[in-house]
Amino acid sequence: MSSNIGVMGHPIGHTKSPVFHQAGLDELGIKETFEAWDVAPEYLEEKVATFRADGFLAACVTLPHKQAVIPLVDELTEAAQAVGAVNWIFNRDGKLVGHNTDGTGFLRALKEKAGFDPKGANVVVFGAGGAARAIIYALKTAGVNRLTIANRTVEKAQALASDFSEGKFKPNAIGMSRDELSNFVPYANLLVNTTSLGMAGGPAELATPATADMISADAVGYDIVYAPPMTKFLREVEEAGAEPSGGMTMLVFQGIEGFEMSTGKTAPVETMFAAIEQALKSS
Ligand code: ATR
Repeated sequence: MSSNIGVMGHPIGHTKSPVFHQAGLDELGIKETFEAWDVAPEYLEEKVATFRADGFLAACVTLPHKQAVIPLVDELTEAAQAVGAVNWIFNRDGKLVGHNTDGTGFLRALKEKAGFDPKGANVVVFGAGGAARAIIYALKTAGVNRLTIANRTVEKAQALASDFSEGKFKPNAIGMSRDELSNFVPYANLLVNTTSLGMAGGPAELATPATADMISADAVGYDIVYAPPMTKFLREVEEAGAEPSGGMTMLVFQGIEGFEMSTGKTAPVETMFAAIEQALKSS
């Protein structure tokens, strides 16, 4: 018999989700096993249908299924609609609700790990892909003052800015040239890298979206790239005298948010972080 909670992706072998979720379930005395389900796209519909079963709690959804599950659930939350992706499916009495916790996970990572409240902040987000979308949605709901989206392909930044423009909230869209960045980066309280620059094994591991000379010493620099833990961007942030933050924190908090909505209980955050840190050390 399959378990009532788990993570679904393809491939799934690399996932660390079961490690910290299991630690959380055990600590709360919830007798469930958090499984990892490798589900190829052709079996997705069949698998999602099993989530309606009595007693099933929730599934965390990862690549490549975050958009493909949208037509398979019964309802989408506002966050899932705004982000255009589902990373958790909850079973509410046989009805499947698709939700997205990437944005709230990011905000919790900022608040609880970097001690930063984005309300009223001037922010630059580098990148305009799926991760940027979740983060921009979160920053909008958190009430930032000014948001600039900087992307190599400026048209993608413009499209994202116009999708989220509402009332007084009007993000700027710029390219990634030094000239353009120098008009915004030095005045930002928060810089967020959502591009793949700096990612281990990628084509631009030694690259950074901004350099120390441009970054204010009062800023927080958050990198969603978590391997390596100290990216080139975070090193530039540190060199500027600013606060580097990132690593696995957004990833773990998106899980913690889903864990809390699945179980209806406050997650043992310390225990869950300790479990992932232990797993990373021994891997
Ligand atoms: P995700 O869903 O994880 O956000 P994505 O949608 O593939 O991933 O987005 C990757 C982001 O990294 C994009 O903003 C991309 O810029 P483009 O829109 O111009 O492609 C950015 N990116 C990737 N490689 C880059 C590079 N070498 N220089 C600058 N930006 C890069």
